[in-house]
Amino acid sequence: MLELVKHPDELLRKASDPVSDVNGEIADLAERMIGTMAAERGIGLAGVQVGRLVRIFVTHVPEDEPRVFINPAITARSDGTSSYEEGCLSFPGLYADVRRSNECTVEAVDENGKPFRLDADGMLARVIMHETDHLDGVLFVDYLSERKRNRLLSRYEKLLARGRA
Ligand code: NI
Repeated sequence: MLELVKHPDELLRKASDPVSDVNGEIADLAERMIGTMAAERGIGLAGVQVGRLVRIFVTHVPEDEPRVFINPAITARSDGTSSYEEGCLSFPGLYADVRRSNECTVEAVDENGKPFRLDADGMLARVIMHETDHLDGVLFVDYLSERKRNRLLSRYEKLLARGRA
């Protein structure tokens, strides 16, 4: 199990570097991230969330297989959007409605170094957009109004303080 990086850790605001060589070490990281995501009951996990500032994330949404995305680029997003409740393993217990495109196209490399392109919709598209944001230091709470974000985060920080007390 890899240790999760959680808000308010400033690492979450850093942009990740491209993976220059998809080698055994990266494949091993991807496998351990999939294991960590499963243990934490998440549906997506980015490298920065386990303290690795490299452009990789993994997904496992219901009725889909685990997927690995290395050096992902979202090349298209649908005009149609919808709002849906999101969570994040770096914000345990915090959920908020976020509006995103219904569909997206992503180009990436898999854990074997093979490039692929994927047209995603529904939950998978949403997770791909959420995780790609992580690689640029963008968090789902950034999409909320300032008022709503402050309210949620102060509640989260109170819970965190109580947990540590
Ligand atoms: Ni997240």
